[in-house]
Amino acid sequence: MSNYHIKHLEEYYQVYRKSVQNPEVFWEEIAEEHFMWRKKWDNVLSWDFTKPEVKWFEGAKLNITENCIDRHLHIRGDKTAIIFEPNNPEEEAQHISYHELHEKVCRFANVLKEQGIQKGDRVCIYLPMIPELAISVLACARIGAIHSVVFAGFSSTALATRINDATCKMVITSDGSYRGAKTIDLKGIVDEALTDCPCVESVLVAKRINTDIHMEQGRDHWLQPLLDEAYIDCVPEIMNAEDPLFILYTSGSTGKPKGMVHTTGGYMVYTAYTFKNVFQYKEEDVYWCTADIGWITGHSYIVYGPLCNGATTVMFEGVPSYPDFGRFWEIVEKHKVNQFYTAPTAIRALAKEGVEHLEKHDLSSIKVLGTVGEPINEEAWHWYDDNVGKRKAPIVDTWWQTETGGMMITPIPYATPTKPTYATLPFIGIQPALMDENGKEIKGNQVDGRLCIKFPWPSMARTIWGNHQRYKDTYFSAYENKYFTGDGALRDEVGYYRITGRVDDVIIVSGHNLGTAPIEDAINEHPAVAESAIVGFPHDVKGNALYGYVTLKETGEGRNHDNLRKEINQIITEQIGPIAKLDKIQFTSGLPKTRSGKIMRRILRKIAGKDTSNLGDTSTLLNPEVVQDIMDNAL
Ligand code: WT7
Repeated sequence: MSNYHIKHLEEYYQVYRKSVQNPEVFWEEIAEEHFMWRKKWDNVLSWDFTKPEVKWFEGAKLNITENCIDRHLHIRGDKTAIIFEPNNPEEEAQHISYHELHEKVCRFANVLKEQGIQKGDRVCIYLPMIPELAISVLACARIGAIHSVVFAGFSSTALATRINDATCKMVITSDGSYRGAKTIDLKGIVDEALTDCPCVESVLVAKRINTDIHMEQGRDHWLQPLLDEAYIDCVPEIMNAEDPLFILYTSGSTGKPKGMVHTTGGYMVYTAYTFKNVFQYKEEDVYWCTADIGWITGHSYIVYGPLCNGATTVMFEGVPSYPDFGRFWEIVEKHKVNQFYTAPTAIRALAKEGVEHLEKHDLSSIKVLGTVGEPINEEAWHWYDDNVGKRKAPIVDTWWQTETGGMMITPIPYATPTKPTYATLPFIGIQPALMDENGKEIKGNQVDGRLCIKFPWPSMARTIWGNHQRYKDTYFSAYENKYFTGDGALRDEVGYYRITGRVDDVIIVSGHNLGTAPIEDAINEHPAVAESAIVGFPHDVKGNALYGYVTLKETGEGRNHDNLRKEINQIITEQIGPIAKLDKIQFTSGLPKTRSGKIMRRILRKIAGKDTSNLGDTSTLLNPEVVQDIMDNAL
C-alpha cells in the first residue's frame, strides 16, 4: 500500500500509527517511492536531542531541484509550474511551464557560478514577489549555494544584520518593488545596508519598476543581460541529504535574529508529503498560497512542496486591498484556484469589508481552504467557512513554525472532521506532548500545557547558523529530551489540539513573528528613552498589536509626547521595519520589576489588554507603586 496520499480518517489513524511505531520504516518507504535520489541513504535516522543532533537519510545524495523540476519534464513539461499574478491587475499574468522553469533556473544558476558563487556559499535574496524570487531560490539550490531570503519589508539595518550573520557573498535584489499603489526603492535599501557589509562581493539587480538607480561599479550587475548570455542547461550539484539548503531568520527573545538552518533531504520529503495531503492536491489543480516567499510558508508551500509534487503554484505580487478588497477573489476566479492558503489576519481584514466583494466573483473552484501563522478566532473561522468556502470546502488550520519547516498539527481535508479554532490532529509522524510547569508530561485529554515535540521529524531545523549552543538553549533545554515550541496548547476530549498562543516573549502581529527584545533595543536607542517594555494586546484585525511602555530620561521629560511617539516608531521602522511599529505608546514613571530586576510583563500585558480585575501575584514586586500609576494612565 502506498501511504503517500491519505484520503480518509481511518487511513489517517492507520498510517499515523505506523509512522510513530516504526518511523524509520515508514519514512524510508515514503522517501524511496516518491523522490529522486542519486544515491540511497545508509541510515534513515539518527538522533540525540541532548546534543542536539538529528540526521535524516544520512549518506543519501540528491539535488532538490531535480525533484522539483527535472523529473517532471518528460511527464508534465508543458504544465504550468508557476502562475505569476502581478500587483497591477491590468498587467498580464505569466504562466511559466516546467520546461521554462528549468531553463530559467539553469540560466540563473550559471550566472551565479560565473559570479564566483560555489557550493556552500551564502547568497542573500532580497526581492519582491516576482518570478525571479522563486527562480533565484531554486538556482541557489541547483548549485548547492545556501540561500538566505530576507523578506523585502525589512529595513536596511535588519537586512545588514542578516547578511553579516550568514556572511553572504552576494545579494540578489531588484531596482524596486510595487506594493499596491506604492513603489518601494529596494535597491536604495540594499545600498544602505551594504555600507556595513564587507562580506558582499556582488549584487545582482532584477528590473521591475524601471527607475533610474545607482549601480555601484564593479559590484552591481543588471541581471537580465547576464541571464541572456548564460547557457540554458546546468548540471545539478549533487548534495548530501544533510547539506544545508537554506537559512531563514526568525525573531527570538534576545535581540539577534536566529538563522534557522534547514537541510536538504528530510526537508524535501516532509514538505512534499505534507503539501500533497494537507491540500489534497490533484494533478490538474491550481494552488495558491498568499504568503511571501520571504517567510517559511512561502519557502515550503509556494516553492519546494508544490513544485516537488509537480503542482501549479500561484505567486501574487500585490496586496489584498489593491485596487480594492476584491482582489483575492478576482484572482481565485481568474485562475480557478482550487486550494487557497492564507493568514487569519488577512481573513479578518477582508471580513471587515463585508461580503459584497465576494459576491462579485465565482469561487466555485475552491476545494480546500487553509490558514496559518496565528490562532484563528471563531468569528473569522466561520466567516471564511460560510463566505469563501460556502461550507463545502474544509478549512485546514495548520500549526507549524519556521523551525519545524513543515506543517505539524493540521487536519487532512475530507478526512479529519474540522472544529473551529482547532488545528486538530498531529500530522503523520509528529508526536506532540503537553508539559506542565514542572517539566512533567500531561497525559490524557481535556488538558492544557506547553507544547513540545517528542520525536524528530524530517524537516526540523538542524541548528542556528553559527550558534549551535543557542539552538540547544532555545529549543532543547526547557524540557528534557523534547523540542519546545514556545506555544501553549490544549487537547480536547477527542485528542484535538488547539494552539492558545505564545508563552514566551514572541508576539504574533498580523501573522508576523516579532520578538520583544529587538523592538525594545531599537526604542532604547532613542536619546530620550531610559527604558522600555513591549507587550501584545488583542486587536480585531492584526490578532495582536504592540503596546509599548516607555520611561524617559530626565532630558526627555517635558518633550512633546506625540512627537516622541512618532520618533520612536521611526526608529523601529529603520531598525526592523514597519511591521514592528507600536500601536500604543504609554510614557510611564517606571516599569514594574521583580526584586531580581526582571520586568513583570504579565502585569503589563493585563493592563494593555484592559484586564486588570486580577493582576495575580504581585508580592515579588520591587516597586508596586508604579503599577497604580501605569493603570491610571493606561491608553
Ligand atoms: C508561530 C510560528 C508556520 C508559518 C508561519 C509562521 C504561530 C503558526 C499557527 C496556527 C495558531 C499558529 C505559533 C507558532 N502559529 N500557525 N495555525 N494556529 N498559531 O511561522 O513566523 O515561525 O511563527 O506562529 O505561535 O509558534 P513563524
